[in-house]
Amino acid sequence: MSKSTRRQFILRSATQAASISFVLNGKRITFPSSLLPKAAGPNDRVNLGFIGFGIRGNILLEAAKETQQANLLEVCDCYQGHLERAKERTEGKIATNFAQYKKLLDRNDIDAVVVATPDHWHKRIVLDALSAGKDVYIEKPMTYRIEDGPAMIDGAREHSRIVQVGSQWVSSEQNKRAREIVTSGKLGKVTKVTASYNRNSSTGSWNYPIPADLQDGVNFNWQEWLGPAPAVPYNPERVFRYRKYWDYSGGISTDLFVHLITSIHFIMDAQLPKSVAANGGILHRHDGREVPDTLDALFDYGSFCVNMAGTFNSASTSGQGIQFLGTEGSLSLLLGAGMVQQPEYKREGYEYSIDSWPKAMQEAFLNQDNHRAESQGGTKPAPVNLDFPDKPDATVLHLANFINAVRTRQPSYETAEVGHHAAAAGHMVNLSYRSGKRMLWDAAKGTASEG
Ligand SMILES: NC(=O)c1ccc[n+]([C@@H]2O[C@H](COP(=O)([O-])OP(=O)(O)OC[C@H]3O[C@@H](n4cnc5c(N)ncnc54)[C@H](O)[C@@H]3O)[C@@H](O)[C@H]2O)c1
Repeated sequence: MSKSTRRQFILRSATQAASISFVLNGKRITFPSSLLPKAAGPNDRVNLGFIGFGIRGNILLEAAKETQQANLLEVCDCYQGHLERAKERTEGKIATNFAQYKKLLDRNDIDAVVVATPDHWHKRIVLDALSAGKDVYIEKPMTYRIEDGPAMIDGAREHSRIVQVGSQWVSSEQNKRAREIVTSGKLGKVTKVTASYNRNSSTGSWNYPIPADLQDGVNFNWQEWLGPAPAVPYNPERVFRYRKYWDYSGGISTDLFVHLITSIHFIMDAQLPKSVAANGGILHRHDGREVPDTLDALFDYGSFCVNMAGTFNSASTSGQGIQFLGTEGSLSLLLGAGMVQQPEYKREGYEYSIDSWPKAMQEAFLNQDNHRAESQGGTKPAPVNLDFPDKPDATVLHLANFINAVRTRQPSYETAEVGHHAAAAGHMVNLSYRSGKRMLWDAAKGTASEG
């Protein structure tokens, strides 16, 4: 089947699937119902290639299998051990490519690529993929620096390709329900959001094990891994623990906060903060890292403020989650898990504040208007636990949403604009942390400056 006939074929079958659509950031977004569409036949599937096959690439390949909407054609990585694992996961069927992603992009039979390399490669590989006519699922954070975003948005537009960014929680039932609750007004006016992402283990703070057989020039290609990053001598620590170094990552803010930020933007229908101020430091994990292990950020979105925190020293009581605080109630999300709605208990502290008055005056005040009832308050409303299916997993749903966009040519669920905005807010946190200054978003210039 020619490429264009194949595209028409998969488009026809996709439009028959049930879909949901709504307006987000002024754009109509359409995606399949939360239940996955039924398994597609081999000719009806989107042909996928994978670039970057480490921790996340493996999860995405398994998610792609679960959607039953994709053929898995080729995987490219700079480490042979990861390519061997790809063979193991596909009964030897997937083609492997050692460190030559452009060759994968040359294949006419690949419709779309899933990119899960470290962040410093995201812009280059996405632009190359778009130029090669591929649709792209790019892992979060979409960008390594704010300036990367507009070029990636333009690339998608210029080549009429689909880009979806990989913050999977926005495809979860939980995030969709939270968005419905907030936009319905049930919480009243939401003026404050608090969020945290904490871990307390060595691997959680990115000290991932390094494979014993890793050898540059034998089964690993250091120069290709470095790509556009500054040239430094070969160092396996940098490869497998790259999130600790500014050359490849933005640490807590772009690795972890970006998940929280994307969900907050989605649920609050927000785009970018007006200003960000951050504090933090390397307070506990003195292991050669450059990025902070503790980070606090304050975001001002105009109609609401966000207080976000991350640490690598205690996770048992705080974990990860987002709380939306409104005038009529609050909503607490444990990311990927439960959600609790707490209607507000309102009670005026009149008795406390007038206790210094003469008794007769107090009585007169309490008998006035509704003061006595307001002072006593009503029955304290019970919290409501909201249940929703946690299967399929958010990554499977997010990938299915991408595949649906590839077929229908409708905007993806998390477009390049959405990904750029979330990553830009994360970069503003780091710019503030590193400069000690508050960062302001300059809408005219499309970037951030010190304020
Ligand atoms: N959405 C999520 O929940 C989630 C979770 C984990 C990671 N991620 C994102 O996925 C990306 C990868 O993270 P990871 O944990 O899998 O890292 P990783 O180090 O485990 O894997 C990255 C892989 O990319 C390969 N690579 C590097 N340069 C390449 C090139 N030029 N061509 C081909 N392969 C190349 C490396 O060899 C490595 O195997 C990051 O952007 C990260 O933020 C997202």
